[in-house]
Amino acid sequence: MLLIRNIKELVQVEKEPRLKVCGKDMASLDTIRDAYLVIHGGIIADFGRMQDLDSSPFYPDFLSCQVIEAGGRLVLPCWCDSHTHLVFPASRESEFIDKIRGLSYEEIAKRGGGILNSARKLAEVSEEVLLEDALRRIQEIIRYGTGAVEIKSGYGLTFEGEIKILRVIRRLREMTPVTIKATFLGAHAIPFEYRTRREKYVDLVVQEMLPYVAQEKLADFADVFCDRGFFTPEETDRILTAAVTLGLKAKIHANELDYSGGIQVGVKHSALSVDHLEYTGEDEIEALMDSDTMPTILPGAAFFLGLKPAPARKMINAGLSLAMASDFNPGTSPSGNMQLILSMGSIIYKLLPEEGINAMTINTAYALDVAGSLGSIAIGKKANVFITKPIPSYSYLPYAFGENKVETVILNGEVISSQQSAVSGQQQAI
Ligand code: NIG
Ligand code: FE
Repeated sequence: MLLIRNIKELVQVEKEPRLKVCGKDMASLDTIRDAYLVIHGGIIADFGRMQDLDSSPFYPDFLSCQVIEAGGRLVLPCWCDSHTHLVFPASRESEFIDKIRGLSYEEIAKRGGGILNSARKLAEVSEEVLLEDALRRIQEIIRYGTGAVEIKSGYGLTFEGEIKILRVIRRLREMTPVTIKATFLGAHAIPFEYRTRREKYVDLVVQEMLPYVAQEKLADFADVFCDRGFFTPEETDRILTAAVTLGLKAKIHANELDYSGGIQVGVKHSALSVDHLEYTGEDEIEALMDSDTMPTILPGAAFFLGLKPAPARKMINAGLSLAMASDFNPGTSPSGNMQLILSMGSIIYKLLPEEGINAMTINTAYALDVAGSLGSIAIGKKANVFITKPIPSYSYLPYAFGENKVETVILNGEVISSQQSAVSGQQQAI
């Protein structure tokens, strides 16, 4: 058992856990000042005000349990990052320079760069190297407070390549304490050799890749990049119909480059989330209104590519929920630092700190299909929480961009990473 005591503020507490937070509710965030938190068996077992510590049902056990003194520090549920591509073969800084010189993401893609560039490199890299590099990235995002992450394939674009990535994701799940969901993204781009017969590539995805992925249980979700220059809504519809029939939930990369119809096709297939959303107008908002699909913005990609920001405020004002993820990938968002995403949410999209925190905890837990077990401080949820450095308030989290405000990360009830000099071991609590 672990007791965290004298917490300056325990943030995102829920007495009655919700699946997601919508509209104006996104601006409120429940907290307890001067709090304690009890973790038992990897699960959040109790929390409350320090002054009520002696009425905790676990009070007698506090004499002999592990204790962390959190004076001056905040405790939050770990970030849930519902959109990444963090298994990739190599960085792509030469394209970054092309972009600095004025080329657009689409122009780079048309020249065989972008996703196809990563796919060429992936074919040359062994599974072991992919795994080692991805492990390093996961260790890094844990240090920034991420406790659950979705990872997509999509840099293989061949049967073998896609399966290679999904196998690496499966091994990451076995080797790391972070909660991982896998997404099959065979329809990330049309490979060069299929450019004049694209329907044959869609056939390959639908008839060979998807059935194998489903049969081997290599993925939880299936995704398609439905946008101008990538997959059409009709192709997306075909792929998602097959995926859903095989038991994979849908997700979509949509409306990043144009009003692509991706949001509507995602809603049609009850996608868990539609992601990017720079081109979201009235029709798209209307389509999302009565759906269970989580609109998700990816500030890192929009920032890196210099895209006009998705209309986050419009969506929230319409009563929609909003999630925010990192899109960690080598082409458009080479960082999985969710604290930076939180800052971008406030600075670029004008999200209040409360809205940003909701968008990266409860709402991304929903987009990861783990809302019942992660995303808030609630009794019975998995104990994936972080303790900040001594900071003035939770608003300091988006405010102080660039600094790592997370000091200690606890996953499944175990201290995984700590920058604090002295996390106490067995220590008398009372
Ligand atoms: O989410 N938009 C499409 N896919 C990725 C980019 C992948 C890449 O360029 O490598 C994204 O931004
Ligand atoms: Fe992406």
